[in-house]
Amino acid sequence: MSGGSHAGPSDWYKDAVIYEVRVPSFYDSNGDGCGDLRGLIARLDYLVDLGVSALWLLPLCPSPGRDDGYDISDYEGVSPEVGTLEDLKALLDAAHARGLRVITELVLNHTSDKHPWFQRARRAPKGSPDREWFVWSDDPSRYKGARIIFSDFEKSNWTWDDEAQAYYWHRFYHHQPDLNYDHAPVRDAMLAVVDHWFALGVDGLRLDAVPYLYEREGTSSENLPETHAFLKTLRARVDERWEGRMLLAEANQWPEDAVKYFGDGDECHMAFHFPLMPRLFMAMRREERRPITEILARTPDIPANCQWALFLRNHDELTLEMVTGEERDYLWREYARDPQARLNLGIRRRLAPLLFNDRRRMELMNALLLSLPGTPVLYYGDEIGMGDDLALGDRNGVRTPMQWSPDRNAGFSPADGSKLVLPLVTDPEYHWQTINVENQRRNESSLLNWTRRLLRLRAKHPAFGRGSAIFVDAGTEHAFAFVREHEGDRVLVVCNLSRFYRPLSLELSRWKGLVPVEMFGGVRFPEIGEGRWPVSLGPRGFCWFELKPPEPAA
Ligand code: NOJ
Ligand code: CA
Repeated sequence: MSGGSHAGPSDWYKDAVIYEVRVPSFYDSNGDGCGDLRGLIARLDYLVDLGVSALWLLPLCPSPGRDDGYDISDYEGVSPEVGTLEDLKALLDAAHARGLRVITELVLNHTSDKHPWFQRARRAPKGSPDREWFVWSDDPSRYKGARIIFSDFEKSNWTWDDEAQAYYWHRFYHHQPDLNYDHAPVRDAMLAVVDHWFALGVDGLRLDAVPYLYEREGTSSENLPETHAFLKTLRARVDERWEGRMLLAEANQWPEDAVKYFGDGDECHMAFHFPLMPRLFMAMRREERRPITEILARTPDIPANCQWALFLRNHDELTLEMVTGEERDYLWREYARDPQARLNLGIRRRLAPLLFNDRRRMELMNALLLSLPGTPVLYYGDEIGMGDDLALGDRNGVRTPMQWSPDRNAGFSPADGSKLVLPLVTDPEYHWQTINVENQRRNESSLLNWTRRLLRLRAKHPAFGRGSAIFVDAGTEHAFAFVREHEGDRVLVVCNLSRFYRPLSLELSRWKGLVPVEMFGGVRFPEIGEGRWPVSLGPRGFCWFELKPPEPAA
């Protein structure tokens, strides 16, 4: 057992609010222009004050940095740009002292081509055990059923290696060779990596690209039974050695395939709900709830010890892989008219620009993120409505430095501006001199302060993290309403997706006799009686109500 486990229920991830951080872009403590672990430590109080309870840190391991650290060259170290293993331990201690959990990356599927395992494999004789760490072929037409994920950059999942005189398999960039999970030493090595990070004290691991561990002829080489068998082995090991730790599956799949990463409660504790995300944007644009309710109806129940992770945006493009071709065209047309904003099968924009920098839309989307069944994941900077930079390549436009203040380099770093890890956003609408934490702290009605309040309300109600969800008819397709319930805690969420004022009438008869109390203001609304419960909402408005028993008569 490690010193990392600490007080609280072992299913802490159900009540969590996760904040995703790109450490090199967060805060630079030593003035070299690159954010670092010590810088993150210095900003933990900001995150506690914001009201999040767990951090997810993007890749920290040594890496050539050709896929922002998802191309690992040493699984057990820390990239010198962000610090040392000692710094990471200090971060874990500082986070745990504040009640924050820390989730890091487990990049199982592939390494960097600079990793010593790959360098050794390409030089090893064909068929030798060292060679077998990766997937080789003389014939680049094998595993044809596997799609190409980085379709804007790669033409094939095979790349020729002169040294090896063979093709090697990769589901992502050609410099990210896939490990061969049919080879027992690979499985053992990755289990040892899991032990390494949990022994250091991290609370959870995000399993990057987990559907692609195995490949088999005649299949899509995704979600294979062999992959699930390996995950059960991994989970059994975690249960045996690392109490209270969490595994989060990054499986960009349809709901029926994504739920399989929970197994029977014996694979991952959490999995991202990828298909929900684009449908939230679709519902916003179409001003109707159907895209959301349809995908939730299509989502199977999950084991009691499991939880979905929900998100609006992250460090990648807003992926449109889990929608139909027609829906993708619609979303591209409505949200990425500028072809520069499109990447692979997605949209490389941050939340605020996607939502036309419209405060109402940002509030409504965040309110949905924080009230739908699952654990919300916020992307750094979205709490202040940061913009993006389409002039930067690949996904870098959504990875620019956090905007802390109107001071030099947005308070991110004292370095010479030309030394910054990525340029600051200077688009006039989102300029760091205006959009920054310091300015928004001072303004009580800022997005930052609004988000803080929303997170505080959420924290008061276990129903948000743990409750059942019952969808409620509201009399119009433009509204979306549901009740979350957990052990007597009852929350009613009502949203008006339309751009106009709307009278709504809610079918709440099973809660007859209860009184909806609006959470922001504590204002009591009329008791739920016979017939429909009427309420009116403004354009893109939402309300969170607590459903309370009536006060006893005086
Ligand atoms: C998913 C990560 O989120 C993405 O950033 C990365 O490029 C791929 N996996 C490959 O590791
Ligand atoms: Ca630094």
